[in-house]
Amino acid sequence: MSRKLFAALGGVALALSMVACSGDGAGGGGDTSDKKPSELTIGVSMPTQTSERWIADGNAVREKLEAKGYKVDLQYAGDDIPTQSQQVDQMITRGADVLVVAAIDGTALSGQLQAASEAGIPVVSYDRLILNSPHVDFYVSFDNYKVGVAQGTALLTGLGLLNKDGSKGNATGPFNVEIFAGSLDDNNTQYFFNGAMETLKPFVDDKSLVVKSGQTRIEQAAILRWQQEPAQKRMEDLLTSAYRDGTQVHGVLSPYDGISRGIITALQNDGYGTSAKPVPVVTGQDAEIASVKLIDMGVQGSTVFKDTRQLAERAVIAAESFLQDKTPEANDTTTYDNKVKVVPAYLLPIQTVYKEDIKSALVDSGYWTAEEVAAGQAKG
Ligand code: GAL
Repeated sequence: MSRKLFAALGGVALALSMVACSGDGAGGGGDTSDKKPSELTIGVSMPTQTSERWIADGNAVREKLEAKGYKVDLQYAGDDIPTQSQQVDQMITRGADVLVVAAIDGTALSGQLQAASEAGIPVVSYDRLILNSPHVDFYVSFDNYKVGVAQGTALLTGLGLLNKDGSKGNATGPFNVEIFAGSLDDNNTQYFFNGAMETLKPFVDDKSLVVKSGQTRIEQAAILRWQQEPAQKRMEDLLTSAYRDGTQVHGVLSPYDGISRGIITALQNDGYGTSAKPVPVVTGQDAEIASVKLIDMGVQGSTVFKDTRQLAERAVIAAESFLQDKTPEANDTTTYDNKVKVVPAYLLPIQTVYKEDIKSALVDSGYWTAEEVAAGQAKG
């Protein structure tokens, strides 16, 4: 080969490799395995700051990454889909080397993920699976179906149809219950709903549970963006439409603490909370501090605790594996199909928390202090 041709080919190869490394000119992604942590940036995109769990998630991921010396670009999208798309676009152009994304709408980020892939940036889907894209490289979450089973079980236990050990309880019903679900654009919603409804089904079939409103379809039960006020409004509407004949609600399946608080407010405004008209058994999720206080006071029945510190830790392990050109450790490679591929996942365990579990599960583990539980507020 002539020296000229060799040099020309070398130039082409160099140009190609530069394109491969820098993608759309972002400068992130590419081969990161020989770089120091201080030369690497992880873009962390969180959905909203209206729920304290996402603030805790964002802080935990940032702290753990910074402790290892990485740079972190953490953004919250205010539950607004275009804002999240724009923030992820910016992370890519600012040169992120890995993205960790908790999507608002699981279907809305395929364009961003395509750009990330072209720039050689791996994507870790955080807690909520990103759908319809081949460029989701890893998923960290909890066992979301089991969360639903835990919520259904907590409702049955609170009503006395089951004992805490899972055996049949003394109560027979029939109990009037209502069903709430999360945001339909969040992939987790269907897992929570299916887990709970399959757990409740035998009791609906034998009529020990009656959904008096008749609203049992997920589309009827869903609350957009998991918001408290629309949940309160839906509960008010249910009370007006199905409980003006002197009957009472005995239990409400709620998928998330913010929704539970909306439901409880509607019930309290309707006179629930006396011995003749007790607040129904209401479930929840996330162990948000305002709900933990309500559980401690005997107002909310339970929550499902998902330790966001562990989730953050798993996200950091996955991000770091990609940066070191390794495959992150998965413990589930079959469940989470995002409609294009089955995404390898690491799923963490969950725990139901009733009043008597607050100390052992939440206080002794350092998740909340006893003072925070008493105040119903996080200490800044
Ligand atoms: C879900 C998440 C729940 C809850 C909910 C509302 O995606 O898995 O734990 O946080 O969003 O924020």
